[in-house]
Amino acid sequence: MRPRKAVIPAGGWGTRFLPTTKSQPKEMLPLVDRPIIHYAVEEVVRCGAELVVIVSSLGKRAVEDYFDKNADLELFLERKGDTSLLHKVRQLADMADICYVRQKEQLGLGHAVLTAKQVVGNEPFMLVLPDDLFEQQERVLQRMADIFEQHQASVLAVRRVNEDQVSRYGIIEASSIGDRTYRVTSLVEKPKREEAPSNLAIMGRYILTPQVFEELENTSPGAGKEIQLTDGLRRLLSRQAIYAYEVEGDYYDAGTPLGWIKATIALALKHPEMGPEIREYLKSLVSVSRSDAC
Ligand code: G1P
Repeated sequence: MRPRKAVIPAGGWGTRFLPTTKSQPKEMLPLVDRPIIHYAVEEVVRCGAELVVIVSSLGKRAVEDYFDKNADLELFLERKGDTSLLHKVRQLADMADICYVRQKEQLGLGHAVLTAKQVVGNEPFMLVLPDDLFEQQERVLQRMADIFEQHQASVLAVRRVNEDQVSRYGIIEASSIGDRTYRVTSLVEKPKREEAPSNLAIMGRYILTPQVFEELENTSPGAGKEIQLTDGLRRLLSRQAIYAYEVEGDYYDAGTPLGWIKATIALALKHPEMGPEIREYLKSLVSVSRSDAC
């Protein structure tokens, strides 16, 4: 059985983007021509999600409105005769079956996932952190779903990072079973460089069995005094096997202002209409700054 439900956490404060996120959800920041969360919903729908569960919170109304039908806007565009935009706006409202659960306190990623327990129920689910984007966006979850089907066990996306970056991620210890696949033997959230068991970092894509909820219910706050998903997964590992898939291709972290700028540039360069002009523009900026430096 492939997972039919997907959870997308979007209830955090977005502190790395303050003051912008004081009155606007981080998930609604644009990445070229769509808000960040649009990419995540699109990705899980393409991977077969029949129900998307967005973990929302106070101040996130804009996310709900974005995926809703806006009859006034549609009427306006219809009267204006702008059929192309009208089509875009309508498509958005029909994109997915979405329901929202509220995370009433920001107690960490593990807590956010736990908030979705009742809606997910007793079945496996995809978990997508919208800040993390991949060059091969569609392939990652598809490949993970294949591994899930084969082993009937949770699967995490991982990527090798530089040693000075391990303290930013959940890190796994694992043995390779071939074809970019690993069997996980341990996990630790944001370890110090000298304590990291490897440089294989968890990358914001998970397919999880529902038993993770029971483990998260018994997980105490860990790194950053938050209820960490990684700690819940370590508990799960004593009951069930966990596998990891090493993602290929580029990765973008839109969760920090610098990462967001880099992701914007990378995706804009790949955009079929904007790409060529952006490339020329960047070249001209770089040559101006080089001659300034001379
Ligand atoms: C979260 C997870 C971490 C994972 C990371 C991927 O951390 O807790 O295990 O490696 O996402 O982006 P955060 O970025 O919320 O600090």
